[in-house]
Amino acid sequence: MKSIDDYLKKIKTGIVPDKFKFRITEVGSVVEIKDGVAILDGMDNVSFGELVEFENGIKGMVIDIGIDKVGIIILGDYLKLGSGDKAYLTGLQASIPVTDDLLGRVLDPIGQPLDGLNSPSERMRNPLEKIAPGVVYRQPVSVPLQTGIKAIDALIPIGRGQRELIIGDRGTGKTTIAVDSIINQKGQNVVCIYCAIGQKESKVAAVVDLLKRYSVLDYSVILSASAATPVSQQYLAPYSACAIGEYFMDKGKDVLIVYDDLTKHAWAYRQLSLVLRRPAGREAYPGDIFYLHSRLLERACCLSKKYGGGTMTALPIVETLEGDVSAYIPTNIISITDGQIFLETDLFNSGVRPAINIGISVSRVGGKAQVKAMKQVASKLKLDLAQYREMAAFSQFESDLDEETKKFLNRGSKITQILKQNKHQLLSLSKQVSIIWAGTKGYLDELPLDKVTQFEDRFMEVLSTKKNEHLKRIEEQKAINTSDEKDLLLVVKEILKEFINSDNNKK
Ligand SMILES: Nc1ncnc2c1ncn2[C@@H]1O[C@H](COP(=O)(O)OP(=O)(O)OP(=O)(O)O)[C@@H](O)[C@H]1O
Ligand SMILES: [Mg+2]
Repeated sequence: MKSIDDYLKKIKTGIVPDKFKFRITEVGSVVEIKDGVAILDGMDNVSFGELVEFENGIKGMVIDIGIDKVGIIILGDYLKLGSGDKAYLTGLQASIPVTDDLLGRVLDPIGQPLDGLNSPSERMRNPLEKIAPGVVYRQPVSVPLQTGIKAIDALIPIGRGQRELIIGDRGTGKTTIAVDSIINQKGQNVVCIYCAIGQKESKVAAVVDLLKRYSVLDYSVILSASAATPVSQQYLAPYSACAIGEYFMDKGKDVLIVYDDLTKHAWAYRQLSLVLRRPAGREAYPGDIFYLHSRLLERACCLSKKYGGGTMTALPIVETLEGDVSAYIPTNIISITDGQIFLETDLFNSGVRPAINIGISVSRVGGKAQVKAMKQVASKLKLDLAQYREMAAFSQFESDLDEETKKFLNRGSKITQILKQNKHQLLSLSKQVSIIWAGTKGYLDELPLDKVTQFEDRFMEVLSTKKNEHLKRIEEQKAINTSDEKDLLLVVKEILKEFINSDNNKK
């Protein structure tokens, strides 16, 4: 708390001009308490994001500064506060403890443990709100972030330091894609942060379980503000997660951060703003709803070598209603991010999983970071698939198709099948390149469609047992040369022969 003497000293030295209204004491008192928000009066010299402490030790953060009142979000049990309670300014910005020990932990947005272990060490704290690094601190995205999911790595590649939105209706596999991306970082020296906002506790527990099962919790931090917590906590959660991410990024590490999901974050902010009586705009969101997410996602970046070379890749998730991407929050976040992965209920229900609509999914910067081997096999894939979908739609009305069209449709259906992938069954770069190569070269054209998955499984099995050195070479050279192609073709032919023989035997 600043003392009166400090103020008098400042006036004497001329730092605070006389015309400034200054207060004698920084103690305010509670006028109103509403759903996690306290309105105080008697505080003039406050700044946004400043930490406030109530007399019973509960902390709060300044979120709204009015002419004579200050709005505080309460970081604790607001039911323990009542009108007339005193609160004082601490002069500190709201922050979260950050240490390497956070890895493997499950925390709430103010850094309190949710996993029953000790509180994290308070040696160092990072502010929740921070101005994103400017252009001079950044460099273009150049290293890929492999998700292990064929459709994404081949067609919508993500680079380290990129912000890629995952958007879709309820239950279309959004969380699965994000969590699979975390699982695939095993051994890649990437710190992963999963931030759950407004989710059911059971869903968060399932994610924690999954990460434990795949032993990837050791390099992950989970931050959760479940639907049962006050909206103030849900509002803070992504900023806290980002502050933790920045700690690792500033140390030169690569960070992957998942915000699951920002629609619920926007709802929490809308509720807070309405409680604070801010004017409501479109869909009852306050006017600064765009800034809410832009200032968060701008903090994900690729720092230049001079500043440590750390990166933070953000995968924000947004839920849509009936696939409507032109709603307020989806359009905002689409325009902030560097691309989107769009998931569709129809595709999901028809068995295309991950249910990515490749036509309207894009990655605006990841292509530059894509590995050469993948570019070699998948550069034309997106266009071909778009053409295939169009042709497939038209061919439903046609009875006799020419040979060329039939061939094209056949190839397209095989590739669509190849791009399907079961959850948590992630593939290394070399395996992805090999199977996509086989599909695009047309070696699976003769194979019946229902055998493609079986072929792929067998192909992967043979490659990883008998041709491991081959996979390693693609992995190291990050390119596929003619001798690789010859080798792969031999394996493909061998397996196709196996299939034909087993069919003949059955007959
Ligand atoms: N590639 C996949 N293969 C098989 N099953 C999948 C795949 N992706 C998702 N699923 C299943 O679909 C269901 C929904 O997935 P998920 O929870 O990831 O969706 P969501 O979009 O995050 O849902 P919500 O909107 O409820 O958060 C889960 O049961 C999940 O196991
Ligand atoms: Mg989900």
